[in-house]
Amino acid sequence: MRLILLGPPGAGKGTQAKLFAGRFGAPQISTGDILRQAVADGTDLGRKARSFMDQGALVPDEVVIGIIEERLRKPDCARGYILDGFPRTLRQAEALSQTLRAIQAPLDRVVSVEVPEDDLVRRLSGRRVCRGCGQMYHVEANPSRQAGVCDKCGDSLYQRDDDTEETIRHRLRVYREQTEPLIAYYDQKGLLARIEGCGSIEEISQRIARALGRDESRP
Ligand code: AP5
Repeated sequence: MRLILLGPPGAGKGTQAKLFAGRFGAPQISTGDILRQAVADGTDLGRKARSFMDQGALVPDEVVIGIIEERLRKPDCARGYILDGFPRTLRQAEALSQTLRAIQAPLDRVVSVEVPEDDLVRRLSGRRVCRGCGQMYHVEANPSRQAGVCDKCGDSLYQRDDDTEETIRHRLRVYREQTEPLIAYYDQKGLLARIEGCGSIEEISQRIARALGRDESRP
């Protein structure tokens, strides 16, 4: 399955991408995760990306396009991939089409996950992420069993630097201006499925599975 999960910050792209990656045996490719790792490692890429990310702005197209072109050529993408957070601009989408043509791995589907803005702000301000395995939690909707500790690997949970209310609002504006036009772009290509992103994580998974024409009872 070659899939893009499209949606605003907080729509649940990362949460669902992890579930479907496990189910399909295909990698979740999150430009946000790759960039955060680069920041944590203090690499050149991380230094370039940091100020954009802290402000909730997009990292320049040429930087993220380079990352994705390299990533999609790795052998683990042969069985498919789930793109989470890429593309985010029309230029990124055009570059992705070119790369996928070159490696003969066209997209199967683009699923747009749609959630009202107030819910997005609530979700992001309550999000906690595991330092060890990246598992996502929410302090109310999806808490870990023990506060601040990951259920899966026991490492500590943290709050992302860009999950403050002011930066969240800015990220949502950036989404509307630069990323939302991709909904029409992929619709015109006949690849788009829109799903309502409110409900439990399990319900959203089932909606995505239906949009992909897969068994609804899993994952
Ligand atoms: P990125 O990491 O991609 O962040 P984002 O798009 O802002 O998306 P989020 O990770 O915030 O949300 P999500 O939709 O994955 O939701 P999640 O599953 O975590 O990007 C960060 C930054 O990197 C960008 O601002 C930019 O600077 C840069 N960047 C990244 N890609 C780029 C690109 N292509 N071009 C340029 N710059 C780029 O869920 C959120 C919370 O909600 C969690 O707490 C979760 O537990 C909870 N939740 C999930 N589902 C539900 C549900 N059904 N009900 C209730 N709560 C739920």
